[in-house]
This record gives sequence, C-alpha cells and structure tokens, in this order.
Amino acid sequence: MSLNFTIEASSELNSCAKTLEQSDMITGLINRMTTEEKIGQMSQFFGHGEHISEHLAQSIRQGRVGSVLNEVRLHTVNELQRLAVEESRLGIPLLIGRDVIHGFNTIFPIPLGQAASWCTKTVKQCAHISALEAATTGVNWTFAPMIDISRDPRWGRIAESLGEDPYLCSVLGVAMVEGFQGDELHKMGNIAACAKHFAGYGAGESGRDYSTTNIPENELRNVYLPPFKAAANAGVATFMSAFSDLNGVPASGNKWLMTDILREEWHYNGFVVSDWESISQLTTHGFSKDNKDAAYEAADAGIDMEMVSTTYLDHLPDLMAEGRINVKQINTAVKKILQLKWQLGLFDSPYTDAKLLPKPLNSEHLQIAKDAAIKSCVLLKNDKNILPLSAEKLNSIAIIGPLVDDPYEQLGTWIFDGDAQNSQTCLTAIEKILSGKASINYVKAMQTSRSHDQTDFKQAIESAAGADVALLILGEESILSGEAHCRAEIGLPGCQEQLIEAIAQTGTPIVLVIMAGRPLTIEKVLPKVDAVLFAWHPGTMGGPAVADLIFGKANPSGKLPVTFPRKVGQIPIYFGQKHSGKPATEAAYVHMDDIPVQSPQTSLGMAATHLDTHFSPLFPFGFGLSYTQFSYQSLELSTKKLHLGETLSVRVLLTNTGGTDGEEIAQLYIRDLVGSVTRPVKELKDFKRVKLAAGESEWVTFDLCTDKLAFYNREMEFKVETGQFYLWLGSCSQTGLRDEFEITDD
Ligand code: NOJ
Repeated sequence: MSLNFTIEASSELNSCAKTLEQSDMITGLINRMTTEEKIGQMSQFFGHGEHISEHLAQSIRQGRVGSVLNEVRLHTVNELQRLAVEESRLGIPLLIGRDVIHGFNTIFPIPLGQAASWCTKTVKQCAHISALEAATTGVNWTFAPMIDISRDPRWGRIAESLGEDPYLCSVLGVAMVEGFQGDELHKMGNIAACAKHFAGYGAGESGRDYSTTNIPENELRNVYLPPFKAAANAGVATFMSAFSDLNGVPASGNKWLMTDILREEWHYNGFVVSDWESISQLTTHGFSKDNKDAAYEAADAGIDMEMVSTTYLDHLPDLMAEGRINVKQINTAVKKILQLKWQLGLFDSPYTDAKLLPKPLNSEHLQIAKDAAIKSCVLLKNDKNILPLSAEKLNSIAIIGPLVDDPYEQLGTWIFDGDAQNSQTCLTAIEKILSGKASINYVKAMQTSRSHDQTDFKQAIESAAGADVALLILGEESILSGEAHCRAEIGLPGCQEQLIEAIAQTGTPIVLVIMAGRPLTIEKVLPKVDAVLFAWHPGTMGGPAVADLIFGKANPSGKLPVTFPRKVGQIPIYFGQKHSGKPATEAAYVHMDDIPVQSPQTSLGMAATHLDTHFSPLFPFGFGLSYTQFSYQSLELSTKKLHLGETLSVRVLLTNTGGTDGEEIAQLYIRDLVGSVTRPVKELKDFKRVKLAAGESEWVTFDLCTDKLAFYNREMEFKVETGQFYLWLGSCSQTGLRDEFEITDD
C-alpha cells in the first residue's frame, strides 16, 4: 500500500515537473518569437516529393513553417526537420502530416468496413499499425479519424466514415484515436490523430461533397457532435475544420463551433487545423470579401493552423497591427501547436530512424489486416445455406467479375502509401484453397466495374453454365467513392446488373461478393443470386479474407454500420429516425400499383411513406448473417423503475443454436417514449461482440447508467428526462427481445 503510494506520488511529481518544464520551455520560446515566426507555426505547407523546393526550404529557415503535409520520403522528411532544427533561428521541429486513413503500406478495410466489425480491438489495432508504419517515414500526424455522421450513401466520403450512428461512431472513433496515439504520444511509433471534419460535413445537400449543410442545433448536438466530443474527451491531439457551410457560417470561420463549443464548453486543449485551403475558400463561400477578411474570420473563430493556403502568413501581421487580431489570440494558437510538438517528443528527437520500428507489411501486420477484413465482411443473404462452399465437394467453380483479381481496386479510397503489388486478390487466395481440388474457370467479363461493354459476357455465361457454382465478385472500383466522388445513383455500376441477369439465366447457383465504398441499391439483383457477401473495399488482405469466408475457414460476423436503402429516393434513411405524427405502418401502407383509379385523396394510407417503394430499408442498420444461428432468450432487467444516476443491469441468454462456432454482435437499443423534444424511434446504447462455440450459451450483460440516456433538450441542456423507455436486445436494429423500464424522480 505504502509502496504503491510512493510510486504513484513520485510519478505524479514527475509528470508535474514535466508539465512545468514544458510550459516554461514553451513560454520561453513564445517570448523569443517574432510575430512572423509565430504565424509561421500556424502555417502548414505541402511537400513536393523527392525534391525540396527552394521556396519551402527558405520558408523553413525563416521560421515561416509549422508543419509540412504529404511528404513521406524518410530522407526528405529528415532533411526538412534538419532545416527546421538546425537552420532556423529558434530550431523548432516540424509536424509532418499525412492522410493515414485506413493503413499506410498495409491497407486495412476502408473505415466504413472497419466499422462493420463493431470491434474496438480490431479498429484500434488497425490504427496502431497504421501509425507504426507511417512513423517509419517521419510522419508524426495523421488526419484521421473521420467521424462525420454519414447518413447519405451518395456521399463518396461515407467510405471514410464510421457510419450513421452517433454511439457506434463515437466508440470506434475513440478506438482509432487510441490506436494512433497510444498511451503516450512521445513513444516511438505513436502519431497525433485528428478528429475531422468539425462539424456536420456528412450532411451535405443531396450527398454532394463540399455542399451546404443545414442542421438545427438540436440535431447537431444530439447526432453530429457526440463523436467529436468523445474524441476530445479521449485526448485527440487535433481537430480539423470542415469545408462545409454550417447553417450559413462555413465551419472554417465558425466561432460558435470552434470557440464557444469546442474550447469553452468542452474545454478542448488541442489545436484546430483548417482543411485544405478552406480558409481562403471562405471568400468562395461568399462569407469573406477577400483573403484578409478570411484570415480574420478564421483566426478569430479559433482556427490555429492554416492548411496550404497562406492567408495567415499574408495577412495576420496587418490584422494584428490594426488591432483586429490580438497577440493573445496568436500566442494561444502557437502555444497549442508547440505543446503538441513537445508531447510528440520532437524537441528531443526530431529525426526518424526507421530501423527502430517494425518493418511495414510484416506478417503480423498482414495477419491483422486479414482478420480485420474477415470481421468487416457482412453476409446479407445466404439462401439454403449455399455458403460456405465446400472445397472438398466442389467439382468446378466459375469465378467472374472485374474485381476478382484486381489488386488495386480492392484497396479502396485514400491509399496514398499503399501499393497494389502487395495486395492478395480473391483469385490467388481461392486458387490456393482449391489447389488440387475443384477446377476454376475465371472470366473477368468486364474490363472495369463501370464498363458497358458486354462482349465478354458470352465467355462468362459459358463458364458459369459448366460449373457447380458461379462466384461473382462485383461492385465499385476505388475511384467511385472517396472525396469528391459522389454518385446520384448507387446501384451496381456499368453493365453489372445485366451480367448477373445473364449468369442467372444459366440456372447455376450464384454467390455474389460485393466490394464497394458505400451501401449499394441491390434490391433488383437480390432475387437472382443465392448469397451476398458485402466486403466493402477490404484492403491488402481482402482476397484471403473473402476466400476464407466463402470456403468456411472463417464465419462472417460483420454487421451493417449504415442502413442500406432499396432506392435512392429513400435517402436519408437511417434507423434512428423520428416517429413523426403519422408513422409508416404495414397496415396503412399502399403501393401505387394497388391504388384504385380515381381514389379520393384521403382514402390512402396517410402515413410517412413513398408510394413507389416500401418504407423499410433493404437491409437495416446492425444487420448481418452468420453461418450459424443465434437465439436471444430470457431478457432480464434488474429493475423496472430507477432514479436518475442509477444503473440498470440488463442480461440476456445468448445461444449459438447452429452447428458452427461463431461470433455475434449483441446490440442494445432504447426508445425514450416521450421527450421535451421528439426522440428517435431507436437509439443504440451498447453492444458486445460475443464468441460462442456451436451449442454454447452465455449470459450477456450490459450496465446502462441513466446518464447514457441524456440528450439536448429544447433549451440545449444535456439532460436525462424521466419517463417510460423501451429497451431491445437483439441482433440488429429491427429485431430483438423487448422490455420496458421507467426513470422516475419519486
Ligand atoms: C482534404 C480533405 O477534406 C481532408 O480530409 C484531408 O485530410 C486534407 N485534404 C489533407 O489531405
């Protein structure tokens, strides 16, 4: 006891001493800095590759650069640091930023795919390895995680998101931050993370990138901000402001967001970087009249560092001289930037020695990439248990499609440092599994996923006709999702639907694997195929992961982190929608084909539905099949009445009733029946990934503290309201055992 006390006290003293040392050193530095050097720290330049331009080198020597982005050649990065440390007056090292989004050299599934794993451990591991690999080049700062709530699959950047739900996104976003940053930033291999894009960027009109967002404050606080608050609480080193215009004030000039909420309400101590030229774009938005005005708005709002555009360097000195921006504002920004450099240990060791870190793409990294891809795949359909296929019983298989053997397209968006040469494709992985067993007939059928050329269909049909099963690997190539790659129609592109139709005509059973950066509207093709495995863009090890799942060496366990619409016209469609005054019901629903001619207006369903499509999604949030079955029984609540601040214990008996070992993600949802503002029909409050052998049962328990039921009310107070709640425990957002409880203040 006393020994523990001594150790704790001495480590506390140590950390106090360190904090003092840091603050003395930073204050000392700031006192010695010229205005130009301070503004330099607030400026991020982009690198030009192998060659360091004279302009960049000179700017670093002059102390006009706080950070460089997109430079990843180790010797160049070390040279940039040398220029900063040895040739600038104050010797302040650089932050080296890079978009390390879902891997560096080893590419993991796209973030939306990782979110489908619902596995914090996996997500954290992927981020940790990404950090380790990026750090070998001297990169010390990633622009991830992207924790924009994404409810519009037309938006290309949904691929980079963690899906539609504030809770899932918060939990996984924090796991990513922890993976990148580790327990202490200065430890070798840890890099600073960045919560982006603050805020609301995912809600752009019609799913177009960079477009306007209009989000009422209540919705903003209850849906879009929670993941950012969670990241701030988890100590994310930096934030990035969004490109988008939020309710008339672009995020990069939005003082309410950056100062009132982030700093004053949340007490966030890290710094905010703008997005790429988003400060100079304040003029394009029509928010600032020129770059000087833009620099004023951004600096006054609380944007500490400017990415790529140079409005700060060009105009902050004048704005300070005019008294519009004061030295305290500048010092506050510089202090936070220097603090991060200190925390990263850059003042002590600005240079990188790659030999001290694990080699990128090593077997452990690849194994984790494969496991992550396995956990990310979601089995959407499996009629008559056609999957898994048996390598032993199969005589012949036709493998068809543009994504069967494309090492590049399986990687997905944002893979600056990934190399297709390291990818293992489905074809090579299946060849390994089937070697000496079934015969494989591979036909690419389409040159790209977008192709409209059906010339090779004949060969594909022949190959399918002569096989026991046709495995189609279709979807979207990488370039169809990601930044600025939005789609108005989100079906299978090119002539893929026709290809499926043609193969279906052969009568050979079809297993469809889809690689894509977003949910796709596949309602029309579903009846034509026997099984669908949604693999997202699964990354470097996507091939072996998919092959293991197809042949039963692994059991699918992923669950959708986003709702799949039947049709684009249903968007936005998400499980946490509001009930409305006339909710859709099965009884009231009328399809337009069933409306009698000249029906009077009021004879119809009179509910919140479309006439031309059912109101349900194609696949709901949280959905995903397994090769085994799970049953939920005996839902038990520790009490039916509890007081504010108390904790409800919930348990359910989960049984693997099938014949295969598997993993289930048990999901806990609630509904707050009456609120001072209307509440979603369901809210995810917790989940657990549970591994069960065939036939095994386990009590799965959750502790639900009433604090978890708080929301922003009409007065924007974050409060739990007393009253009646439903609670569901089950395998997706649309099923589950239901019970009720009440929060009371008597
Ligand atoms: C623009 C993107 O919006 C942002 O997410 C990214 O981090 C920066 N460019 C830097 O590449």
